[in-house]
Amino acid sequence: MAEAGTLHNAFIDELRDMYDAEKQLTKELPKLAKASSNPKLRQAFESHLQETQGQIARLEKVFASLDEKVRGKHCDGITGIIEEGKSIMEEDFNDATMDACLIAAGQRAEHYEMAAYGTLVAWAQAMGHTEPAKLLRQTLDEEKAADKKLSRLAEGGINQGAADAAQSDDEDAEPATVGASKKTPTSKAKSGNRR
Ligand SMILES: [Fe+2]
Repeated sequence: MAEAGTLHNAFIDELRDMYDAEKQLTKELPKLAKASSNPKLRQAFESHLQETQGQIARLEKVFASLDEKVRGKHCDGITGIIEEGKSIMEEDFNDATMDACLIAAGQRAEHYEMAAYGTLVAWAQAMGHTEPAKLLRQTLDEEKAADKKLSRLAEGGINQGAADAAQSDDEDAEPATVGASKKTPTSKAKSGNRR
């Protein structure tokens, strides 16, 4: 066990963690896609599923280039993020709000992956693993692009749609206020009598 505790060991451990995380995400992304009402959002999740499959293949290449067995190690972090996503999908939200929340869930996963791949690229570079660094950088760039795409969808109308839906829900839910405002002219007239 002379090698225990080296950066190389930590690197392999982290690669296994991400191999498992990506596999978990291939099961989660179709659920996020299915729960989406906005067709562009559904497509974003579907195309990221394809990318994720490519990222798994890329990790296998990284293991091969390091002469390591392809193996995953349960990733608790992504399991937690996926659990949160599941809770969101069980909520009784209107379509627009659900889409906004699905983006939030998706971006949590992307940011987790960006942090992990950022570290992996830096460690690969520090140890002089040129080919793994290149492959991991490609995945990091894909995760960043997926995150940006989700931000664009959120800020390009989905969040506003959810906010507008909340406002119209409020109006529907407060008929008493509408009734009260009808009486306002009368009360104004009364107060107009004040000297
Ligand atoms: Fe990924």
